[in-house]
Amino acid sequence: MNKPANTSEIMDNIKVICQCKMIKKATYKKLIAQGINTVAELEKATGAGSGECGGKRCGPRLLKMLDNSK
Ligand code: FES
Repeated sequence: MNKPANTSEIMDNIKVICQCKMIKKATYKKLIAQGINTVAELEKATGAGSGECGGKRCGPRLLKMLDNSK
């Protein structure tokens, strides 16, 4: 039986952060490297959070990416 994945392992395997808008993790990595440091700014820059789920899926992922970048 496989050991349950932790949050970091799950995030490592995710390639698309915003599934509603099909925005890839690489896009957010670049924006974070450029100095964007809030979920609201990342959403404004890419349109994440404005999809069908209203950001319920991508919002927590963006927050985790920001936390991991500190
Ligand atoms: S996954 Fe980003 S708005 Fe739904």
